[in-house]
Amino acid sequence: MALREVARIVRERAYAPYSNFKVGAAIRAVSGTIYSGCNVENVAYPEGTCAEAGAISAMVAAGETEIAEVLVIADGPVPVSPCGGCRQKLAEFGKGDVRITMATLAGESQTMTLVELLPGAFSADHMEDS
Ligand code: THU
Repeated sequence: MALREVARIVRERAYAPYSNFKVGAAIRAVSGTIYSGCNVENVAYPEGTCAEAGAISAMVAAGETEIAEVLVIADGPVPVSPCGGCRQKLAEFGKGDVRITMATLAGESQTMTLVELLPGAFSADHMEDS
């Protein structure tokens, strides 16, 4: 199944009663296996988690730590853009040239690399002398 199809299906399972904005994310790890996640909101709003975080958790729980490609989908007017926190989370497991496709249910999409989405990302290099 293509990344887009997996993300579209998992998006339907999102728990988003507060924003009513359902998001699905699919990650293809370097092994070729696809992991997916959806946003899970909470009545204590900051405790909610993004779709990307769910997909990353599924990948790590399965024993993988290297992202090859990502697709995120939502039913917005423009392709959904990963939040700043999720950009940093993706950067933990993906190199700068990893392609992130942002999509709408209507079929619009935009693809950017991780380094384009998060230039100057904080990384372990910044802590080398610590
Ligand atoms: N959200 C995601 O899951 N991923 C994104 O890339 C953007 C935002 C979620 C968080 C929250 O549940 C809802 O969308 C509205 O912000």
